[in-house]
Amino acid sequence: MTAIRNFQQTDLDALGTLHAVTRRTAYADLLPESALAQITPEALIEYWAERLPIQEEPFRILVADKAGKLVGFAMASRHGDVAELTAIHLHPDHQGSGLAARLHDAILEVMRQWRCRSTYLWVVVGNERAQAFYRKRGWNPDGTVIRSSIGAGVDADLERWTRTV
Ligand SMILES: CC(C)(COP(=O)(O)OP(=O)(O)OC[C@H]1O[C@@H](n2cnc3c(N)ncnc32)[C@H](O)[C@@H]1OP(=O)(O)O)[C@@H](O)C(=O)NCCC(=O)NCCS
Repeated sequence: MTAIRNFQQTDLDALGTLHAVTRRTAYADLLPESALAQITPEALIEYWAERLPIQEEPFRILVADKAGKLVGFAMASRHGDVAELTAIHLHPDHQGSGLAARLHDAILEVMRQWRCRSTYLWVVVGNERAQAFYRKRGWNPDGTVIRSSIGAGVDADLERWTRTV
């Protein structure tokens, strides 16, 4: 059984390590080798260690905890009355299991508790698996594309997708 629970500070190393694995897998064909080389567990642990203390409130990170092992996470942040799905990542071994849907639904429930009516996310152009996942759950691209940092020294082309909460 996998529990969906709140992130705790003691999850930090596992979060960064998982984030590096999911990014390297998802972006293998989308980013140049020079960018992929920067996606390491150490870089992502440092990224989260620096980001969390300065992250604008409110935000929430939920993790998928399988018998003490962190196998997924989702993060939401609120900007006024609009929520952002800041991240959703599932370990490649667990993709296709339905766990991402549980994380997605749980983080949307957080947005509802914030009384947000709409939400957006940024997805890397060409990340077709994630886009299929989002489309199936009521998200659609709004036509905005930007080039931006995705953290830990990596830039990417990003599409904005939106949905009602
Ligand atoms: C995005 C993510 C959380 C979705 O979780 P998941 O368990 O993979 O999602 P699901 O398997 O439920 O849904 C993905 C859908 O895309 C389909 N799919 C798989 N590979 C695909 C591909 N290359 N192109 C298009 N669709 C694809 C799957 O078949 C599935 O559709 P189905 O439900 O009709 O079978 C997960 O893939 C992930 O962590 N990816 C890496 C990190 C990432 O990109 N996060 C998003 C950042 S914006």
